Amino acid sequence: MSEGYVLKGNLLYSTSPEQMVSVPNGFLVCQEGKVAGAFPALPECYKNLPLVDYGDRLIIPGLVDLHLHAPQYAFRGIGMDMELLDWLETHVFPEEAKYKDLEYARKAYSIFASDLAASATTRACIFATIHRPATLLLMELLEETRGVKALVGKVNMDRNSPAFLCEESAQRSLEETALWIEQGRGRFQHVGMVLTPRFTPSCTAPLMKGLGRLQKETGLPVQSHLSENLSEIEWVRELCPGASSYGETYYQAGLLGGEGCPTIMAHCVHSSEQEMALLKKQGVYLALCAQSNTNLRSGIAPVRAYMEQGMNLGLGTDVAGGSSLSIFHAMVDAMQSSNLRWRLVDDSWKPLTVKEAFYLGTKGGGSFFGKVGSFEGGYAFDAVVLDDTGLPHPQPLTPEERLERMLYLSDDRQIYAKYLEGYQVFQKGNRTDALPQQN
Ligand code: GUN
Ligand code: FE
Repeated sequence: MSEGYVLKGNLLYSTSPEQMVSVPNGFLVCQEGKVAGAFPALPECYKNLPLVDYGDRLIIPGLVDLHLHAPQYAFRGIGMDMELLDWLETHVFPEEAKYKDLEYARKAYSIFASDLAASATTRACIFATIHRPATLLLMELLEETRGVKALVGKVNMDRNSPAFLCEESAQRSLEETALWIEQGRGRFQHVGMVLTPRFTPSCTAPLMKGLGRLQKETGLPVQSHLSENLSEIEWVRELCPGASSYGETYYQAGLLGGEGCPTIMAHCVHSSEQEMALLKKQGVYLALCAQSNTNLRSGIAPVRAYMEQGMNLGLGTDVAGGSSLSIFHAMVDAMQSSNLRWRLVDDSWKPLTVKEAFYLGTKGGGSFFGKVGSFEGGYAFDAVVLDDTGLPHPQPLTPEERLERMLYLSDDRQIYAKYLEGYQVFQKGNRTDALPQQN
């Protein structure tokens, strides 16, 4: 038997949107950074492995954030009384321009990287800014914390952007992106790269086409925004009369999924049936960002319709459209928005259940990274230990009920320990020095 270790506690994980597995006082076996199994009794063959007993605590898969903006973390919780396009001009672009200055970027990104490492998130897809050096710095800082596995994108913008945050030409933007790839590719163990056209309004057709070519050459994944806000969609219609939907503007450039092009599109609040069909056909992942969609008055995405069509779905915090890094909050926000949609817009689409929301924030989004977000055998050993003793209750609660409370009540204080591909990122209280560190 090769080396590994065992965590003991109340295990909870999704196998499908409808199915949550609970293993009270169970044993979670890690071998070579992967889950060997989640067992109610420890099989004989693992009896010699070191064991960390987390007692009555809950152990769940690490959470997955499919969409957030690192440079916007600095102003989270500020300027949440505008629609998207005004908010971008007023708050986002002036802040992102500051990342030209590496000193500022270091200060801001250090805070971001350490807060993300301390969160329950183990996987994230992150927008940086147009600035190559600051984007590489963000990647370095994330690598140093070793607190998440992340994909980071240098943003592309060559039109409809203020002079202080606009790349000179499509050509320059592509050159900088190619140089960024050359300087960053393969350099980090835990941080990868993702092509990141900001959104169609800020990218010319030659830039989009060039990024499409770069995607083919490099095989890098793609992330962007899609059909978030009604004024944005109208703007895209004016800018791209040759496209039959906003989604098609990415598709025409080869930036919308399909074979060899893993793609995440954030929001999709107002996607037409035609656009949905294209997203489904192309296997695009939708990052659902309910808190941002409420803050920026964008609307409520038809999550149930997407689920019934079997689309690839995960959750995004969209910091700083969303103000919290917590994917637990994103689960609650997705549920609450779907409740209101059902009540106010269309009662034929049932609201999300807790199980479904938990699935979206773990295995749903995790599948973008492969076998991630569950404790089924062969999955990456990404795990979070939750300690809810600070939230006492007089009545007995099942592990499922305790997990449900975590979605609503938890903050960083309940995050007791975190594991990433078998590596212990941190543990509060007494450190478990006996635990062998893998990798
Ligand atoms: N669309 C283009 N840029 C952005 C951004 O930074 N945040 C959000 N929410 N939507 C966008
Ligand atoms: Fe966003």
